[in-house]
Amino acid sequence: MNVTTDVQLPAAGVDLDRETRFWDRIAIRYERKPVPDEAVYQKKLDLTRQYFRPDTEVLEIGCGTGSTAIAHAPYVKHIRAVDFSSKMLEIARHKAAADGVTNVSFERANIDALQVADGALDVVLALSVLHLLDDRDRAIADIHRMLKPGGVFVSSTACLGNTMRWFKVVAPIGKRLGIIPLVKVFTVAELCDSLRAAGFELTHEWQPGKGKAVFIVARKAGSDAALAEVSA
Ligand SMILES: C[S@@+](CC[C@H](N)C(=O)[O-])C[C@H]1O[C@@H](n2cnc3c(N)ncnc32)[C@H](O)[C@@H]1O
Repeated sequence: MNVTTDVQLPAAGVDLDRETRFWDRIAIRYERKPVPDEAVYQKKLDLTRQYFRPDTEVLEIGCGTGSTAIAHAPYVKHIRAVDFSSKMLEIARHKAAADGVTNVSFERANIDALQVADGALDVVLALSVLHLLDDRDRAIADIHRMLKPGGVFVSSTACLGNTMRWFKVVAPIGKRLGIIPLVKVFTVAELCDSLRAAGFELTHEWQPGKGKAVFIVARKAGSDAALAEVSA
């Protein structure tokens, strides 16, 4: 397995140590928790794989314990899977080694400080993570920059603004008590607006039920040739 060296986490507007400690603390429990709806999870995997080819270069942000990266590994060239929780990554690396997966690099990094060249990636994945970022617009703009013309951004996001707007009030209290991590409350429409504002065209939007995470495939515009190549 290609495991890169952990990188220094630069300072940011949020207390990264505190956030990281939260995810480190729950890593084992997170790994043991069953997927809430296996059929929905499998459908999201299938939908994502429509955008994969054997030479696809993928970045997964907030990869957690690596289940999705490991599941997708046979369908792509390489997945750079990043997370700032070393405990999550420890579990991910063990699982990848146990499964004999050699084309996923698990790397400790803060999503807000990722070093990726412009237009380097075919696909970026963000699963259950956009609502955990301090500035989703900046993250989405960065992802747009990192993608090749015609590249796709696949996300699945808890948009609490539609069904749990009240959470906006309790979230800062829960965070201060260390019960929950940083959580941002926004609606599906606000997320779609953020994606379009960054220059993405939304090609697939699926919410499996009221209050469920919304699955979105967003494409970066490209030349006709690049688009034809991606969809071939
Ligand atoms: C809800 S978990 C989702 C994990 C995985 N994507 C999944 O679908 O199971 C969120 C993950 O994002 C990571 N995370 C949150 N904010 C991050 C940041 N700013 N930089 C890197 N990782 C972050 C957490 O450590 C955690 O592993």
